[in-house]
Amino acid sequence: MAKRQVRILVGAQWGDEGKGRVVDVLAKDIDVVVRYQGGANAGHTVVVGDEKHVFHLLPSGMLYKDCTCVIGNGVVIDPDQLMKELADLTSSPHRSAAKLIVSYAAHIVMPYHKLLDAMGERARNKSAVGAPIGTTGKGIGPCYVDKYNRLGIRAEDLTSPNILEQKLRLNLEEKNPVIEKVYEGDPYAFDELYETALEWGRFLKPYLADSTLAIDEAYEAGKGILFEGAQGTLLDIDHGTYPFVTSSSCVAGGANIGGAVGPGRVDRVIGVAKAYCTRVGEGPFMTENHGEIGDRLRTAGAEFGATTGRPRRCGWLDLAALSYAVKVNGINVIALTKLDVLSGLDTLRVCTAYRIDGKEYSVCPNSTIMSDLAELVYREFTPWQANIEKCRDFNELPEEAREYVRFIEEFCGVPVGLIGVGPGREDTIFRGL
Ligand code: IMP
Repeated sequence: MAKRQVRILVGAQWGDEGKGRVVDVLAKDIDVVVRYQGGANAGHTVVVGDEKHVFHLLPSGMLYKDCTCVIGNGVVIDPDQLMKELADLTSSPHRSAAKLIVSYAAHIVMPYHKLLDAMGERARNKSAVGAPIGTTGKGIGPCYVDKYNRLGIRAEDLTSPNILEQKLRLNLEEKNPVIEKVYEGDPYAFDELYETALEWGRFLKPYLADSTLAIDEAYEAGKGILFEGAQGTLLDIDHGTYPFVTSSSCVAGGANIGGAVGPGRVDRVIGVAKAYCTRVGEGPFMTENHGEIGDRLRTAGAEFGATTGRPRRCGWLDLAALSYAVKVNGINVIALTKLDVLSGLDTLRVCTAYRIDGKEYSVCPNSTIMSDLAELVYREFTPWQANIEKCRDFNELPEEAREYVRFIEEFCGVPVGLIGVGPGREDTIFRGL
C-alpha cells in the first residue's frame, strides 16, 4: 500500500496536456484514483508497451490491478460508453483487475442530452449572432444543465423503477416539445428509453456505492489517493475562457465537490502542462499559430483529439495563462509534457505577458473581453536541435532545453517535477511530484 498522500492532478491549459500519462507514472504511489468532473468528453491516453489505451470515462488507474478507481459524484456518465470501455479493458492483454466504484450520485447522460448538445451547436452555427462552442457532442452541457435545474437522473435512480419512471416522464414532458418545436426533431418514446435505462441500471448496480464514504475510508486507512481532473483550467466553467468552456469545474477545487474530498485533506496539487499550447474547439487562444509553426507542432506532437479526432489548434507556450492556472489551482508542482516536440525548431518563443491598455499582465486576466484586446509580449529562446527522447536525467538535456524549463519554473514560481521527452511510458525525466 502506498503512503498516505492526497494529490489532485489538474490540467493547467485547455485539456489534452497528457494527464493520463502522468497518472501512469505516479501509479505506484496510488491506491485510489478518482475522477471528479466531466464525462466521456475527456480522452486520457495511457501507453503501456506497444499498447495505447484511451480512457474517456474510466479513471486512468484502471490498468493497475491493485488500484481502486472511483467515478465520483461530479462526473456525468454515459452508460453505453462505460460498458464499452470496461469491455475493451477485459479484452486487453493488460487486463485490469482494478476495482471500480461508481457514485450513486453521479448524473446520467441521457440520449436526449446528446441530441440537445448537437442541436444547440447546429443552431449556434446557423445563427447570425451565435458563436458555436465546438463541443465534443457528448451531451455534457445539457446533462449538467439538468443537474443544476434539479431534473437530472442520477446513477442510483436507474436501479429504482418507480423513481426512474417519474423522473424520465418529467424530463420527456420538458424535452420533447423543445426537440419537436424548436429543433424540429423526433420526440423520444418513453417505453423504449425506460427499458434502456433499466438495463443500464442492471449493469451499473454491482459498481454503485457511496463514493464519499469509500474515499473517506481510504483516507482514514492512510492510502495514496489521486483526484484526476479532466479537461483543463482554461476550460473550467468559472475560470476558463467563458463561454468557450466545458460545463464543469475542472480546477483543483472541483475535486472538493465532485470528488468529495475536503480541502484540508489535500496534500498537493500537480498541474500538467504541455511545453507548448493546444486547444480543440472554438474560443480564444492567444498564442495560436496559424502558419508553419502551428503545423509543425501539430504533426510532431500528433495533435489530433483523442475523443473526436479533430485536429488541435497549436501555438507557443503561454506563461501568463500557465501562471494563472498555478494561482487558481494552487499548483505546487508542474508536470511538463512533450518537451521533445520542441526539438529541432528554428525559432522558439513563449508569451510572458498580455499588454492591455498599456499595462502588462504577467498573469492573464479572467476576462475574455480583456484578453481579446491584449497584445502579447514574447520572450525568445535559443532552440535545441538534438533528439532528447533518450534523456532520463535533467542534466542530460541540452543546455538550451534546461534553460527553457528553468525559465518556466522561475516565471511560475513552482518546480517542474516531471518532464515528458517522448510518447512511451519510460520517456520521462522524473524529478519528484
Ligand atoms: P464539451 O465539454 O463537449 O461541452 O465541449 C466544450 C469545449 O471543451 C469544447 O471546446 C471542447 O473541444 C472542449 N473539451 C471538452 N473536453 C475536452 C478534453 O478532454 N480535452 C480538450 N478539450 C475538451
